[in-house]
Amino acid sequence: MRVLILGAAAGGGLPQWNCGCPNCVSARSGDIEPQSQSSVAVSADGESWVVLNASPDIRTQLLAAEPLYPGAIRGTPVSAVVLTNGDIDHIAGLLILREKTAFDVYATGEILGVLSENAVFGVLDPDHVVQKKMRIGKTFEPAEGLSITPYNVPGKVPLYQEKGDVDTALISENTIGLEVKANGKTMQYVPGCAMLTKTIKERFASSDQLLFDGTVWQNDEMKTTSTGIKTGRRMGHIPISGDDGSLAQLADVQGPAKTYIHINNTNPIWNPKSPERRALKDAGWSIAYDGMEIVL
Ligand code: MLT
Ligand code: MN
Ligand code: ZN
Repeated sequence: MRVLILGAAAGGGLPQWNCGCPNCVSARSGDIEPQSQSSVAVSADGESWVVLNASPDIRTQLLAAEPLYPGAIRGTPVSAVVLTNGDIDHIAGLLILREKTAFDVYATGEILGVLSENAVFGVLDPDHVVQKKMRIGKTFEPAEGLSITPYNVPGKVPLYQEKGDVDTALISENTIGLEVKANGKTMQYVPGCAMLTKTIKERFASSDQLLFDGTVWQNDEMKTTSTGIKTGRRMGHIPISGDDGSLAQLADVQGPAKTYIHINNTNPIWNPKSPERRALKDAGWSIAYDGMEIVL
């Protein structure tokens, strides 16, 4: 299985258009590498590809990824796009993928509802782009030799659908993880996860590769960087650090290679010289970056 990291950052990217935090300043000056928004491509044979989440940066991401170049006058090696939630960083790229080339969009009923409620997605001509409903626990094959099983992870409704009291660790079709299998290898893709459960950890343990929610290092990171007031948990993201953070909770999950992905621009791990980056390295984790390729 080939796994291409198209975009390693969380919503907003690095730098984010309106952000002057130290990471964003360093990304503009070239001191650290800029990173685009959350998207991954996977393939069993290197010929037919499946894109996991379509970020608003998909146009430049496809330009940077040679295996995803069209092989004909019109066309694409991308046979399908699979969505893990309805966040802007995961669905806005669908609008860029208009132009009457065929591919399938797989999403849960809940997220297909978001697409159908918002008329702008009608730009994806149904004669070419077929929307297919995924069911939790039901395996499908979006490309030759590649199978995907969606499963529940605690999360919340997309930001633009929040009203009143928000359950930030809801088990629903709003946030899912994807188990991707090809050629006997298994990868877990979980860019958003509010809480880790025994069932989820068991699934991770029997895999070869884990791509996991690294949105924030610290729960109150937006506050301490003066970039906002929301905590990681309020955004439906478990922080990396702390006794109840993902690093500690996944320490005993020894099976897979572990990689953080969907990393917010405020997260200190973007800085290669940070003690936080070192701590992850020492714990055996890697950090995704745009253009990273993982071969399983
Ligand atoms: C998230 O992952 O929390 C979302 O991308 C936030 C957002 O939509 O701005
Ligand atoms: Mn996001
Ligand atoms: Zn920033």
